[in-house]
Amino acid sequence: MKTVTCTAPVNIAVIKYWGKRDTGLILPTNDSLSVTLSQDILHSKTTISAAKEYSHDRLWLNGKEEDITKNKRMHNCFRETRALRQQMEQDAAQRGETLEPLSSYNVHVCSENNFPTAAGLASSASGLAALVFTLAKLFDLPSNMSELSRIARQGSGSACRSLFGGFVAWEMGSKDDGSDSLAVQVAPETHWPELEALICVVSDEKKGTSSTEGMQHTVNTSPLLQHRIKEVVPARMAEMKKAIHNRDFQTFAELTMQDSNQFHAVCLDTYPPIFYLNDTSRAIMKIIHEYNATSPDGKLKAAYTYDAGPNAVIYAPKENMREIIQLIAHYFPGSSDNYFVDPYKLFTSTQDLVSD
Ligand code: DP6
Repeated sequence: MKTVTCTAPVNIAVIKYWGKRDTGLILPTNDSLSVTLSQDILHSKTTISAAKEYSHDRLWLNGKEEDITKNKRMHNCFRETRALRQQMEQDAAQRGETLEPLSSYNVHVCSENNFPTAAGLASSASGLAALVFTLAKLFDLPSNMSELSRIARQGSGSACRSLFGGFVAWEMGSKDDGSDSLAVQVAPETHWPELEALICVVSDEKKGTSSTEGMQHTVNTSPLLQHRIKEVVPARMAEMKKAIHNRDFQTFAELTMQDSNQFHAVCLDTYPPIFYLNDTSRAIMKIIHEYNATSPDGKLKAAYTYDAGPNAVIYAPKENMREIIQLIAHYFPGSSDNYFVDPYKLFTSTQDLVSD
């Protein structure tokens, strides 16, 4: 028996992925770009063991056994990593060496998140990235992160970006087989140490419409999405990469808020419409704009972004964070049944994958 444990971080997109051109291979309709958060507090932790005695693959998610046979996306990750392992075993045999036939063993997977699952906090991203990274370690696969990201992408699109720390682009690629649709690091986690993220947990309930389901309704019904993917995102990707390289918070913040807003606009343009934001989310947006308006030199001090859920992620230079936390705490003192804003979840921006 062989057992490996790894953790993977959450990433929060500043240029959003929303829409697939191929739902089987998970090929996106546009490039996207994200910031990987520190995994000291937010992460998925996955333990996988492989043994020839195991009769079938099994999965436990947050302590509860799930029916793995229904999970096609996980199977994609098993299939791809097992194929690479099998190739290694065959190559070794040709050289007259023996590798343990791990590719033919069944596996037991145990995975947990230390934050709300499916509440718009990218749990699928860190979960599937942890799965693929742990399988790669288990099978001793060469750790080429972009190659692994191609596999993680087939588990959940945004998972491909969680294989890197720092600032990460998912290049949509143009090939039908998806071989060029993978993640690349735009800048490492050390590049912009002043940038921090604050997560405001507005609700930890499971979201009504999953990203997978929601984005295909958008692809099928939203004319605004066509404008977004053709006219808006390509220019924004170039501008965002430049802003990151120059540590230009003004441009970074403006693009981040605009892209989040356009993503939620295409959700509204979907027919029937999809709503991810709630009144608390919108109140936080207003607070951030009012806070930015107090800047004496017109420079932006903070930027919000929202994924497929009501929780806010606020990016800001470290020097402004204390003020932002005080502001949020002032408007949302404590918690109620309807909202819960935790101003103390403050992270340094990025951290790399860690293998236990
Ligand atoms: C709004 O990666 O969860 O967070 O590929 O169907 O698993 P699937 O979708 P998923 O979608 C994430 C959408 C988003 C934006 C983003 O992370 O870029």
